[in-house]
Amino acid sequence: MKYGHFDDKNREYVITNPRTPYPWINYLGCEEFFSIITNTAGGYSFYKDARLRRLTRYRYNNVPVDDGGKYFYINENGKVWSPGWKPVKTELDSYECRHGMGYSIIKGEVDQLEAEVLYMVPLGYRGEVQRVKLTNNSDRKRSFSLFSFVEWCLWDALEDNTNFQRNFSTGQVEIVDSTIYHKTEYRERRDHYAFYTVNSKVDGLDTDREAFVGLYNGFDAPDAVMEGKSRNSHAYGWSPIASHHLQIDLEPGEEKQLVFVLGYVEVPVKDKFVGPQVINKAPAEEMIAQFQTPADVDQAFDDLAAFWDKLLSVYQVEHPDEELNRAVNIWNQYQCMVTFNFSRSASFFESGIGRGMGFRDSNQDLIGFVHQVPERARERIIDIASTQFEDGGAYHQYQPLTKKGNDAVGSNFNDDPLWLILSTDEYIKETGDWSILDEMVPFDNDESNTASLFEHVKRSFYHVVNNLGPHKLPLIGRADWNDCLNLNCFSDTPGESFQTTENMEGGVAESVFIAGMFVLYGDAFVKLCQQRGLNSEAEEARGHIEAMKNVVDQHGWDGEWFIRAYDHFGEKVGSDEQEEGKIFVESQGMCIMAGIGLEDGRARKALDSVKERLDCEYGIVLNNPAFTSYIMKYGEISSYPEGYKENAGIFCHNNPWIMIAETLAGNGDAAWDYFRKICPPYLEEISDLHKTEPYVYSQMIAGKDAQKPGEAKNSWLTGTASWNFYAISQYILGVRPDFEGLRINPVIPKDWSGYKVSRKFRGATYQIEVKNPEGVSTGIKDILLNGKKLEGNLLPICEEGSVNEVEVLMG
Ligand code: BGC
Ligand code: NOJ
Repeated sequence: MKYGHFDDKNREYVITNPRTPYPWINYLGCEEFFSIITNTAGGYSFYKDARLRRLTRYRYNNVPVDDGGKYFYINENGKVWSPGWKPVKTELDSYECRHGMGYSIIKGEVDQLEAEVLYMVPLGYRGEVQRVKLTNNSDRKRSFSLFSFVEWCLWDALEDNTNFQRNFSTGQVEIVDSTIYHKTEYRERRDHYAFYTVNSKVDGLDTDREAFVGLYNGFDAPDAVMEGKSRNSHAYGWSPIASHHLQIDLEPGEEKQLVFVLGYVEVPVKDKFVGPQVINKAPAEEMIAQFQTPADVDQAFDDLAAFWDKLLSVYQVEHPDEELNRAVNIWNQYQCMVTFNFSRSASFFESGIGRGMGFRDSNQDLIGFVHQVPERARERIIDIASTQFEDGGAYHQYQPLTKKGNDAVGSNFNDDPLWLILSTDEYIKETGDWSILDEMVPFDNDESNTASLFEHVKRSFYHVVNNLGPHKLPLIGRADWNDCLNLNCFSDTPGESFQTTENMEGGVAESVFIAGMFVLYGDAFVKLCQQRGLNSEAEEARGHIEAMKNVVDQHGWDGEWFIRAYDHFGEKVGSDEQEEGKIFVESQGMCIMAGIGLEDGRARKALDSVKERLDCEYGIVLNNPAFTSYIMKYGEISSYPEGYKENAGIFCHNNPWIMIAETLAGNGDAAWDYFRKICPPYLEEISDLHKTEPYVYSQMIAGKDAQKPGEAKNSWLTGTASWNFYAISQYILGVRPDFEGLRINPVIPKDWSGYKVSRKFRGATYQIEVKNPEGVSTGIKDILLNGKKLEGNLLPICEEGSVNEVEVLMG
């Protein structure tokens, strides 16, 4: 069953039934100020850091699941309702939520009175703007009360949730006309406050939660709303909120618009106060002045649309299959931008108070947005590399606010360093900006100890060479890509972290996955050396790579697939010799992407094994057979029930590795089949089962061994977004940036007759039309660039501003 539909023209998903199988959310903001909003107006806002600068409160894992948000209430002669259905849940005559690129529009109608709220974070603005449109669609005069509502968070979301003995006494607000200022802790060390305002005189206000809601009610029936009368409360401690009350009259057919602003302000310490404990409101007033009229909002809305036009125009496909178009052109790219902004911090599965930016996550996320915002990608690479250690190792995470490595999580995830080669390589291929390699970058954020980015990349490479195990395979450390395969952690203590416990001193466990990665990204390193004329450097690296390939041949092949690892006792992990966990997807993907086994049939064999043992109706599971009990020497992977997360769940992140591997093996039909299985728009019809948003990827879909195969979790913030975009745009549709131009190499299902891709690259536009009259999967007969036949498949870099016609004839 569907709960809405795609509106591709407006780049929106339109939800028409508020009772979605889970809250279906959207993200507002793409610079500094962010909000999460659900289809029933739940969610919260923060500035830069979801933990340390949380503006509004949210209770996760609540009952009901999504309670608390940016609510509006209407009370017309005792009939109370909300335009987003929740929290009041009065049946609406019509309901619609349009999640678009950086905004959401929620609309409800009761008895021909319509209320529509546009929620957005304007570009360059430290606040959320809400435009409320009230329309009387009836032929009688209407008089009613409108209430707004937000609940303030006392800034540090973790403290806010835990330290009540203090919190209940600290809350402070100021009120001036229609503006409510939240200034908790401003009197001491904070130099920031928040405000909530409306561009109209109000008939009442509330700033104390208990006064507004009543101690024995929920958000669904606040006392003030039910009685149609604000308490004009002033909060002293407890839980400060902000609510406006406006009495509205509408003639038949009349429409009124109001503009609400929820803003964040920082004030230089010396200017904090204008009187004893009176906060300096000048910066807030300036912000408020920017959004005085609906026309101001319209302008910001148009600017936002133009911003997205530009970002999305870099890569556009035109294909007979509309699901594919909307995935590639709109939602997958949008999700890539969201993962860039949020990493793994704030979603309905990430609390925003836990994780920092992952070293490996952020490097991989980059391959999904580097074409959209190359300057920001450059900055990100430097930030990440700045947390690297001198020996090439890396902090597993760093904090976005300080950009410093996170000591509590530490290092020793031995795949981490290599991902820096991937991001740097992709950045240079996209931009041609070789200067990034000369950028001086600190080790461990110590500005007195720097080296060029090239040197950092080199140390990433040699970190593997310097950390080999008994078979001369890379030591795995705490874990490689699979955080839950903890081969040096033997944990029998409840609650002990699998990620930070490494209690097998001098651990010898080794990873075939990292070996594959080393060959793949080592090769990229060699090419970087060659481009810089460092031939002996390249030769030396080549030697290490050849040696690693030999080791994989000797110790990494199980007969029908690639082994996954060697455990602490030197026994194979992911081998037919084992009872459970005989085969793992990661080493198949990585080794074949590295080209291992492509020439001697092993790659084909491994891919057939994936098909036979790991593939199912909903995607490729991570391992098989699933682990049916806890195995201490393997760690967290076996802590999950069968079919969930890393224990044989469909971990969508590594499905595209297999898609890419299939394209390298020339099998476009298989690659496409895997793509379609997990691509969200194709799952819209099974929304009841799938549960999460049909417009974005989820980290995990329950696998074939699960209780409910096909049910997804952890939507939005996942490396799945970037890897799928990478797989479809570069390997299936086959338009791939390279150092000297755009490489064209489609590997598609045989029954595709053709498609078009428009790609902006290094300032030029390429309008590529692929034709497949003979129904092949791969192979190019001819490429015409502006009518002229091209040798090879590399489109050269064309003049800036030029528009170039490219005809690709497959066969
Ligand atoms: C999850 C992993 C995650 C790790 C670190 C584990 O519980 O299953 O997917 O990467 O925690 O946060
Ligand atoms: C999620 C983590 O963010 C990512 O770094 C890891 O690779 C996967 N889980 C698999 O464990």
